Amino acid sequence: MDIQKFVDYVHGDNKVEPKDMMPDDYRQLLVRQISQHAHSEVVGMLPEANWISRAPSLRRKMALLAKVQDEAGHGLYLYAATETLGNGNMIADRDALYEDMLAGKAKYSSIFNYPTLSWADIGAIGWLVDGAAIMNQVMLMGNSYGPYSRAMVRICKEESFHQRQGYEILMALCRGTKQQKEMAQIALNRFWWPALMMFGPPDEHSSNSRVSMNYRVKRETNDSLRQRFIDVSVPQAEFLGLRIPDKSLKWNEERGHYDFGELPWSEFQEVLKGNGPCNKKRMEAKRKAQRENEWVKAAAVAFSEKQIKEEHNL
Ligand code: 3HC
Repeated sequence: MDIQKFVDYVHGDNKVEPKDMMPDDYRQLLVRQISQHAHSEVVGMLPEANWISRAPSLRRKMALLAKVQDEAGHGLYLYAATETLGNGNMIADRDALYEDMLAGKAKYSSIFNYPTLSWADIGAIGWLVDGAAIMNQVMLMGNSYGPYSRAMVRICKEESFHQRQGYEILMALCRGTKQQKEMAQIALNRFWWPALMMFGPPDEHSSNSRVSMNYRVKRETNDSLRQRFIDVSVPQAEFLGLRIPDKSLKWNEERGHYDFGELPWSEFQEVLKGNGPCNKKRMEAKRKAQRENEWVKAAAVAFSEKQIKEEHNL
């Protein structure tokens, strides 16, 4: 395969489709990233589901239910996008990829290994986690792989509702009692730094960025997206009357950006190794769900096989 011709093609903002010829490392990069993105969506359902039965009103419960259901749908889009990459010598089978995650051989976003201890955490997740996801996913709408780029367009529309309902939860708390505002500040203190880690390690430690940028999968670097997210989030925190937990945070007129403190990268590495506050709990929950819901999958597969037989008079 003429790699330079392929690179020129994607550099011309052309989309690669499943049946197109593509370099093995491009295919591998996409299987890795899209499947891990899908794992993040389905594991991300757990921290929020923890509060569905304890939402403070029917309206909040309905919004949270809708959001958690959306995340499941995002996972399905992304597993389906991953499976378009399967070919003779490359696995892109969702069951095998999911097993890799359960076995700790594949990643999901570090952020979902933090607990949701209060209702304000649900607000902080919507505002910061979905806000960070939107920042990253809007960039991914322009990625070179057609199915992934189109999935992002649909997902981003739903993410903006997710972010808005989270920010509204915090707005209500910050305009409530002193205790409610304190709860919102504690949630911001706990989720601020883990949300910044969602953008990945610093560029100089990003092992995949160079290839990903060259193949136009990643269109912006980890640090550039992180900076943009901070610049957008600081005024939003000020509007809520909340303090960002970073003593080094300061507007730098010359740079036209906020300067900020060093992220806790050792914590990030520990979470990636499986030693975060909730890693084990998340995987146990997913294994339990898989065991208990095996019959649903078997029934769905049996039903679809029956339909295929009937449609083709087999
Ligand atoms: N959590 C877990 N692993 C992370 C991570 C994080 N926050 N950031 C980076 N990593 C991993 C990478 O996967 C890579 O490991 P691998 O080679 O084994 O996959 C390693 O750390 C080095 O990082 P790189 O920067 O080299 O990796 P990437 O180029 O893949 O960049 C990324 C990392 C920016 C997360 C990129 O993979 C990406 O854009 N992924 C798609 C978006 C995504 O997955 N978002 C997760 C959140 S989804 C979500 O929030 C759902 C929403 O509805 C709430």
